[in-house]
Amino acid sequence: MKYPKEYLDEIKTRLKVSTVVSKSVALKKRGKEFVGLSPFKNEKTPSFTVNDEKEFYHCFATSEHGNIFDFVMKIQNLKFGEAVKHLAQLAGMQPYMFSKQDEEREKKWKEYQSIFSQYVDFYHNELLKNESCSVARDYLKNRSITKEEVKKFKIGYIQKNPNFYEKLKDNYSEQTLTETGLFYLDEKKKIYVERFRGRLIFPINNISGQPIALGGRIIENLDYLAKYINSPETNFFKKGSNLYNLDVARKLSNKIDHIYLVEGYMDVVGLSKNGLENAVANLGTSLTDKQILTLNQFFDDIIICFDGDESGYKAALRAAENSIKELKPEKQISFLFLPNKEDPDSYVNKNGKANFIEFTKQSKLSIHKFIFNHYKKQTENNPSSLAIFEKKLRSIANTIKDNFIKKYVLEYFLEKIAELTPHSNQNKKKFFVKRAKSLDTTKKHFNDSQSLTGVELKEFSLLYLAMNNLNLLQANIHLIENIKLFTEVNKKIFELIIEKLKTGEQITIEDLKLDSQLLEKINKFAPIKHILKNQADDDQKTIELLDDISRDLMNYDLEFRIQELESRFSVDMSETTFNELKELKKKQNIN
Ligand code: CTP
Ligand code: MN
Repeated sequence: MKYPKEYLDEIKTRLKVSTVVSKSVALKKRGKEFVGLSPFKNEKTPSFTVNDEKEFYHCFATSEHGNIFDFVMKIQNLKFGEAVKHLAQLAGMQPYMFSKQDEEREKKWKEYQSIFSQYVDFYHNELLKNESCSVARDYLKNRSITKEEVKKFKIGYIQKNPNFYEKLKDNYSEQTLTETGLFYLDEKKKIYVERFRGRLIFPINNISGQPIALGGRIIENLDYLAKYINSPETNFFKKGSNLYNLDVARKLSNKIDHIYLVEGYMDVVGLSKNGLENAVANLGTSLTDKQILTLNQFFDDIIICFDGDESGYKAALRAAENSIKELKPEKQISFLFLPNKEDPDSYVNKNGKANFIEFTKQSKLSIHKFIFNHYKKQTENNPSSLAIFEKKLRSIANTIKDNFIKKYVLEYFLEKIAELTPHSNQNKKKFFVKRAKSLDTTKKHFNDSQSLTGVELKEFSLLYLAMNNLNLLQANIHLIENIKLFTEVNKKIFELIIEKLKTGEQITIEDLKLDSQLLEKINKFAPIKHILKNQADDDQKTIELLDDISRDLMNYDLEFRIQELESRFSVDMSETTFNELKELKKKQNIN
């Protein structure tokens, strides 16, 4: 639904930027503009300016700028639609009605909201004041939950035989009341009963703070009753879209960059009681993409902290595999595993805030590490098990939507797998580490053999062998003409040699007119000269040596191309790249 331009323009005309901004920032007039301390940054000298004529604000400290809608969205963490509603009201305008259908829905929403508010307020007051709710108050006291938390979370208690339905039914239709999910029809007795009777209730609010659903806990242990029940889905409450306490926690996102995601209501309450208010709960369902995206709108770092038991671990794994899809650059998802049998509520009550924060710092595990560790635990050191392991990790990495993240997670997985299989990857590792070092050092330390890579030394051997057997190679040019070299200088010489050999003229080293310094270097460092020294001058032997070198260089080449394709595959995921990769790996195994 898109607001018409005239409606938005009217709001802008009625509200000066300085009027809106000054609700949260103290402004001073300076010329045509206003200045104040940036609300986006902690600062001592004002760098935040407002220009009513141009209808924008600009923050020189953070480069943030925009109009009144941007400002309200940013400051209050509202979505655009909510900002429009908020500002329209401030401007004294009617909320915008989109169509007949929207109007209908708006009307239903008003009723829904009003029923929920009355309901929540009523039972909250009952819990606070009604003499006959003392069982519930005792229960809370036992769990060391004080009046403060009861008020903060508007917790309520519904007695065993409530009659709030009777009070509401004069003002709302039967249909409207049942559509809230608070009541259902007892078919036998033909009366409406309250779903949450005999339970403590935790209001679940939408992002703007209005109650739209409930969670209810029994206060005595009765095996035949579920410990917790939640509201069913309604027109205005969709499971998997909401998070308990998000309306409160999101307001902290200007100050705090991380949010704890826990399993239960009591965990949120317990953390809050201990001074950790940046916590939300996902209400007993598995975590959805939507919930992750919502949290990421406000927080860069999501710390998933589920119970320290088997079901908590399983839920965490499910959450990890599901939420890794949404991983974005600059956003993090990590996991915090509590000691056995603890949940965040019990842990923080036992150990306190500082310990909990320290524990988080020490023990949180980033999502890709958690996934790797989990599957590694199930893997044995044999080819088939390792293959399954690699396949699983690749398929998980492939679900990541962001291509950059996908690439790096895949690389992380492959590198960690390589560490598990040191033999098959030893060459690769050494080769790359050395190569990276030598690229800029070869030129500087021309005479230092330490700075030569394995590839360069192989190339020197090839050149040494070629230069000392020009006649033999001229007769067997097919043996060398397809060998690929990597180092630019060596490659040039090698090409020159082949070119000269191909002319068919008899040539000597002098004819090649090589740079004397380079020649000296080859003669000095080519490892092969030590082998040749101890060996009779035998053409067959020379050809065998040539074969070895060429195979080694070919392997380097394969290794290179495999690496290249692997990172390409992590981005394009195409069948062609995959098949090419498979072919190369096959070749590598044959060699
Ligand atoms: N839950 C549920 N239905 C159940 C049990 C649990 O919907 N039968 C959800 C609730 O949202 C609950 C969360 O899963 O808050 C975690 O459940 P659990 O760990 O059993 O409860 P706690 O949060 O530890 O609550 P308490 O400390 O009150 O036992
Ligand atoms: Mn608990």
